[in-house]
Amino acid sequence: AADGRLIVLSNRLPKGGIPAGGLVFALHEALSDAGGIWIGAADPGTDVKSGLTRIDDGTQPYERHTFDLTEREHEGFYLGYSNAVLWPLFHHRSDLLHIREGDFASYAAVNARVARAIAGIVEPDDVIWIHDYHFLMVAHELRALGVQNRIGLFLHIPFPSQNEIMALPQVALLPGWIAAHDLFGVQTTRDVAAVNEVLKVDKRCQVLADGTWIRDSRLFQVRSFPIGIDADGFAEAARTATIPRLTLQKHAPLLIGVDRLDYSKGLVHRIEAFGAYLERRDPGSLAPTFLQIAPTSRGDVAAYQEIREELERAAGHINGIYAELDWTPVRYVNRHIDRDVIAGLYRRADVALVTPLADGMNLVAKEFVAAQDPEDPGVLILSHFAGAVEQLSAALLVNPFDQSSFADAIERALTMDLEERKERHAALRKNVFDEDIAWWTQCFLDRLNGAPRSFEGDLKSLRD
Ligand code: G6P
Repeated sequence: AADGRLIVLSNRLPKGGIPAGGLVFALHEALSDAGGIWIGAADPGTDVKSGLTRIDDGTQPYERHTFDLTEREHEGFYLGYSNAVLWPLFHHRSDLLHIREGDFASYAAVNARVARAIAGIVEPDDVIWIHDYHFLMVAHELRALGVQNRIGLFLHIPFPSQNEIMALPQVALLPGWIAAHDLFGVQTTRDVAAVNEVLKVDKRCQVLADGTWIRDSRLFQVRSFPIGIDADGFAEAARTATIPRLTLQKHAPLLIGVDRLDYSKGLVHRIEAFGAYLERRDPGSLAPTFLQIAPTSRGDVAAYQEIREELERAAGHINGIYAELDWTPVRYVNRHIDRDVIAGLYRRADVALVTPLADGMNLVAKEFVAAQDPEDPGVLILSHFAGAVEQLSAALLVNPFDQSSFADAIERALTMDLEERKERHAALRKNVFDEDIAWWTQCFLDRLNGAPRSFEGDLKSLRD
């Protein structure tokens, strides 16, 4: 398998324009090293072909190909089933589920078409690496087409509990989709446990002593691979960035948050906790500014329009109470900001607020750590509900739902002495630099290439 090509599938491709979310950056780094073929969705259109279209000019370290989507498929597959069913469900928000007739059919049709397109180009030694919740059925479709290659999937978002997953109309199909992969990778050990819970309920699934699963004589693995960042590259970008003048009061502390505007990110809880901190703050202390960058994401989905309004209200409310002529406590920027500028802002910031209510990993936490000056580092406030917490336990950990302890953490972060900041940062830094994106790619692909294939012998003897 080592001689074959790497075929990567994700819904989003880097296409100039505005790349959103950590996935695209991480895969770009991974593929720049490994080379290969990266397949993603074209912009929705009317003239839809069944195969792939190569869109790069041959100058990239990897090839980019797109598959076509109709406007209706964009609605049903992307806005509907992916982002109004799977996304809320997997982020523990079944209250936001919007199950519409026809959306699953659209999801299944797109997954089947993509599988046919991949089957059309795959060569015997190629390895297929699928990404995220948009394509849970592709491996299953590929197997139905007779594709025998190694297939791995990495799920970038959390996995729901057995109880929550019952809200998915297609719940009975899920174990079969998972079992079609050789390797089903998730972010954390918590997620592995959740996947295992769901598989246990399926009568056809059995687990072997080493944790390998078997379903209808097909072996597959469920493992965690916490995704990382290009720590060296990001640290360099932070060191050399030029950032615009922020017009803050002299020496005033800067707190920063950078997120897609998503209800899973806990943005309203965060602003309210900052308000609670302002309420109790010593009025003689330097006036802090909290800069929240939150570009609109999936703005055509109703729940995203609602969270945007809530955020605007919360930011306006806190500023209405606390602002002075020369001080705006909350600066909310609803625009895309260039990555280099963000790197520089992370370095300049004294505190980062990474406090999602649910998050697969959260690479902002890792980027902030990489960007900081080790001699005078800022403080990372990290939610228990970010996958990053399994690796970054040296951060100040908070429960974003508990406003007063959240405000305590902000106070502690703003007053922490240099020695403690350095000690915590050194531990965080070690992890972010050791377990970086190259490490992640290698771990996943090594596991996938070494995964045991389908097993036809006596189940019992394997188990002993
Ligand atoms: C998260 C998901 C990615 C997605 C990204 C941006 O990181 O895990 O799959 O690409 O958000 O969301 P969007 O819907 O704009 O692609």
